[in-house]
Amino acid sequence: MRDSILGTAALAAPPVAAVLRLLGTGRKRVLVGVMGPLAGCAAVLAVAGARRAAARALRPVRRLHRELADLPATEPGGRVAVPATGGDVARLAGRINMLLDRLETSAAQRRAFIADASHELRTPLAGLRTSVELALGDPEDAEVRDMLQHALDDVDRLHRIVEDLFVLARLDSGDLPARERLDLGVLVERLVARRSPAVPVTVKAEPGIEVMGNRSRLDRALGNLLTNAERYAAGRIEVVARAVGEEAVVEVHDDGPGIPLDDRDRVFERFARLDAARSRDKGGSGLGLPIARQIAVAHGGGLYVADGAYGARLVLRLPLAR
Ligand SMILES: Nc1ncnc2c1ncn2[C@@H]1O[C@H](COP(=O)(O)OP(=O)(O)O)[C@@H](O)[C@H]1O
Ligand SMILES: [Mg+2]
Repeated sequence: MRDSILGTAALAAPPVAAVLRLLGTGRKRVLVGVMGPLAGCAAVLAVAGARRAAARALRPVRRLHRELADLPATEPGGRVAVPATGGDVARLAGRINMLLDRLETSAAQRRAFIADASHELRTPLAGLRTSVELALGDPEDAEVRDMLQHALDDVDRLHRIVEDLFVLARLDSGDLPARERLDLGVLVERLVARRSPAVPVTVKAEPGIEVMGNRSRLDRALGNLLTNAERYAAGRIEVVARAVGEEAVVEVHDDGPGIPLDDRDRVFERFARLDAARSRDKGGSGLGLPIARQIAVAHGGGLYVADGAYGARLVLRLPLAR
């Protein structure tokens, strides 16, 4: 501050000196006595004015700071006021509100995910408990075998859900397991050969479609598509692997009921099932497609439901290896 006062006084000096040069030596002393203090006063006033202006300009920033400090730390529910005056501070407040929007959405998604996961785990656990209690209640009962079979089915279901949750947690953490050059057609053929579906599966794979990928993750993504196709197919499944431009494309096409146009995004949401009763009976928990899409995206590709003349057609795209 002291520097700036001196600086301002120094700036005021040249005009004073110029005036003095124009006047005679006699009046110089009088003028120096008057102009000196005047210049000093002007400098002090200028500095005080600048300080007031700066304080005024910073007022919205301080208000923003206070509002941010008052926001609840755990729930990003509040928003900061956007000054109607526009300008940088208004833009900053707008950005902060956008960020708070995103935080709120992600907090809501996290809550919904935990609630859905708990619900999914609770259902087979309750079934398991009932089966075991019944079996213990009358061990001689001829139906004990049935009860134990139910209990085993519930254990399998629990195991699948926990396994899927584990995979999602790994995918969410963003860890990138080692990748290698893989022939996608060979991967698909091997995968199909290892399964024993109730309906015939035909594979048409172009040779030499290579991608850089993690084998077990791609196995899982394609496996999830095949599991769905096997679950819903009426009589046949067709799998096609080919190169299209710079991409490797795998289509899994079944002749089941298909996925309605309006639900083609929703099926990729965690725990989403179109027909809860039908899917639950068949043992799905609504994590297969979200996991498969997340794996595709982590490989720089994508997964979506495409149009087809019949049934469901799931299309996985991955960048071809260079
Ligand atoms: N091939 C398919 N044909 C018809 N509906 C499907 C198909 N694949 C998926 N869906 C629908 O999408 C939902 C979500 O699939 P997914 O995430 O794999 O969960 P899950 O198989 O555990 O139910 C399924 O519950 C089902 O309603
Ligand atoms: Mg599934």
